[in-house]
Amino acid sequence: MATTPGRALGSLLPTLLLGLTAGQPFISLTGPSQRTSPGDSVPFNCTAGPFNSQNFSRDFNVTWLKDSDEHPASAQRLVPDNGGNDFITSKAWVTLTRQDVSSEITCKVTHRALADPLKTTMNLSQVLRVVPTLKITTEPSGTHVHVQDRVNLTCHVLHFYPTHLRLTWMENRRMIQTLVSPQVTRNPDGTYSLEHTWQAEATLEEREFACWVVHDEQPPLKTNVALQARLHRQGKGQSVQPYKLQGPLQRSEPGTRIRLTYTSSGFSTHQVTVTWLKNKHELPNPQTSVQYSGHTYNVTSSVLVLLTDDDVFSHVVCHVEHKLMRFFQKTIGLDQYLRVPPTVTVSQSSTSSSLVAATCLVQRFYPQNVHLAWLEDCHTLKGTEQPTLKKNDDGSYTLENLLLVNASVQGPERVLTCMVEHEGQPPKRANLILSTAAHTAYKPIGSTGPEMPALIFVVFLLGLKVLLVMSFTVTYICRRWNL
Ligand SMILES: *[C@@H]1O[C@H](CO)[C@@H](O)[C@H](O)[C@H]1NC(C)=O
Ligand SMILES: *[C@@H]1O[C@H](CO)[C@@H](O)[C@H](O)[C@H]1NC(C)=O
Ligand SMILES: *[C@@H]1O[C@H](CO)[C@@H](O)[C@H](O)[C@H]1NC(C)=O
Ligand SMILES: *[C@@H]1O[C@H](CO)[C@@H](O)[C@H](O)[C@H]1NC(C)=O
Ligand SMILES: *[C@@H]1O[C@H](CO)[C@@H](O)[C@H](O)[C@H]1NC(C)=O
Ligand SMILES: *[C@@H]1O[C@H](CO)[C@@H](O)[C@H](O)[C@H]1NC(C)=O
Ligand SMILES: *[C@@H]1O[C@H](CO)[C@@H](O)[C@H](O)[C@H]1NC(C)=O
Repeated sequence: MATTPGRALGSLLPTLLLGLTAGQPFISLTGPSQRTSPGDSVPFNCTAGPFNSQNFSRDFNVTWLKDSDEHPASAQRLVPDNGGNDFITSKAWVTLTRQDVSSEITCKVTHRALADPLKTTMNLSQVLRVVPTLKITTEPSGTHVHVQDRVNLTCHVLHFYPTHLRLTWMENRRMIQTLVSPQVTRNPDGTYSLEHTWQAEATLEEREFACWVVHDEQPPLKTNVALQARLHRQGKGQSVQPYKLQGPLQRSEPGTRIRLTYTSSGFSTHQVTVTWLKNKHELPNPQTSVQYSGHTYNVTSSVLVLLTDDDVFSHVVCHVEHKLMRFFQKTIGLDQYLRVPPTVTVSQSSTSSSLVAATCLVQRFYPQNVHLAWLEDCHTLKGTEQPTLKKNDDGSYTLENLLLVNASVQGPERVLTCMVEHEGQPPKRANLILSTAAHTAYKPIGSTGPEMPALIFVVFLLGLKVLLVMSFTVTYICRRWNL
């Protein structure tokens, strides 16, 4: 986070300059390493020094200011270093609000040895995340829409910070458009808003339009509307039948039975039969009821459909006969109700002695919207390449993402995690222990004596155990951190 060096101290007291290890005092201010939402309390640390211990230790004041108001400090102490100098540290907790996008926090240290106080300031916008609110408006509005009218659906994304987001339009859970970082307007309070319009043609069939927003790499937000044209009366009293063909509102995994329902009204007799077919095979046990209502009949029919892994291209036909004549037939793609979760694996290969290529393979998922992130010690690694997406023959998707890691950066064993989020489900993780040693261990296998492979095998088993323990630990720690 922001570190502002203290201003040059021209008029220090001579003793401070005489102190051999006491360099020019500086001041630094750090905040939380991740953005936080309004309502959360976050710590800021201020450190100033070095100051000569003997002379000035107890002769200082630290003041915190939020904008121009004094803000209470929660802890203040002196930390001695080895060279007889002290550093002053102070901590302040700030409860963030939405208005803090344009606020700043200042730490000011006065010390007898200083002519002017040391002072540093940080913008609270650096640590703040304001999650947008979403809504969709329709123009013309719902009650005045007729068949084939063009309707403007506008997704309003209101009051967010920072600006980066992705907006996706879905029609019956199928993606129709995605925008990365669409144009925003700035609000007087420093937050941003945007609106984006999708034009759709109204039909008698009810359709769901949804606007999804992924803001600042957070879990997606969603809002939706149903669009259906009003019954359009025509000349000689004959009317177009309004109907609803509905499935579940959430996608389901293979193995789940989903219910599809057809409802319609205005039939002149009760001689109505409804047949359901999945991929040309009749579905068993549909439940159909015909109810008298005024001078006409209402029909409701529903059926259970078992979703399978390979249903991306499957469809269900709803066939309605009235007085033994075909009256209505509609085909529904099952892909809009299906969610096939991915399997995630990570592997490593070495490209040179210091660079290691880690590959995250995300296999056989549907629909195609996934979000992939690499973490090391629970910190997101920035600047990774764009993943490559491939469509499989069965309609599912596979995604591969390569990460180049400098393995010569020393340290405790490094664990890379590939985290994949799919359709708002809890993220799936796969871990990899970076090991340059692994390559050198594998190399000599061919040329070593007979007992060597056994030894390597034992080492390998031990390594596997460590890997298991490590991956549990990482998952646990990351969960604790809510990553
Ligand atoms: C502030 O300092 C404390 C120790 O004094 C440390 O545990 C904490 O991580 C620091 N926080 C930040 C935001 O630097
Ligand atoms: C700093 O400390 C030394 C030794 O304790 C003392 O002789 C000197 O007078 C002190 N200087 C000031 C400005 O207090
Ligand atoms: C610190 O504050 C106290 C009380 O406000 C004041 O008496 C003292 O002179 C201040 N010390 C310095 C070094 O500014
Ligand atoms: C802090 O905010 C001000 C405007 O409010 C801006 O001019 C300045 O560049 C910001 N500083 C940083 C470090 O972002
Ligand atoms: C829909 O949006 C387009 C382009 O923004 C505009 O020209 C049109 O008048 C709008 N239609 C309605 C009904 O508001
Ligand atoms: C029949 O359908 C119409 C239109 O959807 C509805 O207003 C009415 O209440 C229904 N009647 C019965 C008995 O369900
Ligand atoms: C990898 O890191 C080492 C040590 O930090 C550095 O010397 C080297 O230049 C880095 N290599 C690459 C390719 O970035």
